[in-house]
Amino acid sequence: MPLVSAARLLKAAAAGGYAVGAFNCNNMELVQAIITAAEAENAPVILQASQGAIKYAGLAYISTLARTAVAGTSVPVALHLDHGTSFEQALRCITAGFSSVMIDGSRLPFAENVALTQRVVDVAHVLGVSVEAELGKIGGTEDDVSVSEAEAFFTDPDEAGRFVSETGVDSLAVAVGTAHGRYRGEPRLDFERLSLIASRVNIPLVLHGSSGVPPEAIREAIRRGICKVNIDTDIREGFTNAMRRVLEADSDEIDPRKVLGPAREEATAVIREKIRIFGSANKANEI
Ligand code: G3H
Ligand code: 13P
Ligand code: ZN
Repeated sequence: MPLVSAARLLKAAAAGGYAVGAFNCNNMELVQAIITAAEAENAPVILQASQGAIKYAGLAYISTLARTAVAGTSVPVALHLDHGTSFEQALRCITAGFSSVMIDGSRLPFAENVALTQRVVDVAHVLGVSVEAELGKIGGTEDDVSVSEAEAFFTDPDEAGRFVSETGVDSLAVAVGTAHGRYRGEPRLDFERLSLIASRVNIPLVLHGSSGVPPEAIREAIRRGICKVNIDTDIREGFTNAMRRVLEADSDEIDPRKVLGPAREEATAVIREKIRIFGSANKANEI
């Protein structure tokens, strides 16, 4: 099955009351883990590449790995740029075969975020590629901001309404209390804000920084309008812990396949569990 746009997957998710998992990949083993998990759960899935992934593996490798993976699978898959930094980078990814891009103008003033997003939407839509944007700031735990400071960066529901109608974007990443990376305590999501945002826009919403968020909070967020859930850190942790276990059990092991094979299996198990939490298992045939 060829790559499909994320918009198509998210439209079905919104109608079906579930969310599609968007899993970060940096290498062959992670691409394989994501596709194997999606096949085992018969789920639609989004493979996504961050700035770090593009720097580490190179755009050509990511794109070729993803397209090799989808050529042999029957589940619907989108290949998505995560936190795209510029119009030029979005174009490079579209040219490399991505079916979806995120343009992250969240650091910009509102009007500049609108202008940048509009520019990407204009080109992407001509080519059948969907676009995700971000409004508000989704922190990283390293930012070390207090809750009251953090709330100042939460997505404003009225702004979200204006942003979506002015840009024509396909999905919107919102800042409602999640952050990238490991949480120090338990994250507390601002569900009322999420519902307000959902009432102001008519497109699927995206939850970033979803690793470490308790399953029940994820399910509640999905009930309130989240249709795409981004997971990176939990996969990294499973992958790397499995490598560590192998090397601790036999510090003389030198065969990378003996280290990376169990890591790939562990990543697959983590992703399968996420897919079930998101409610996207057995939805592949509904796309
Ligand atoms: O957006 C957050 C991802 O976890 C990206 O992290 O740039 O280190 O790959 P990365
Ligand atoms: P986590 O690493 O916290 O799961 O966040 C992933 C993410 O939002 C990628 O865009
Ligand atoms: Zn993110």
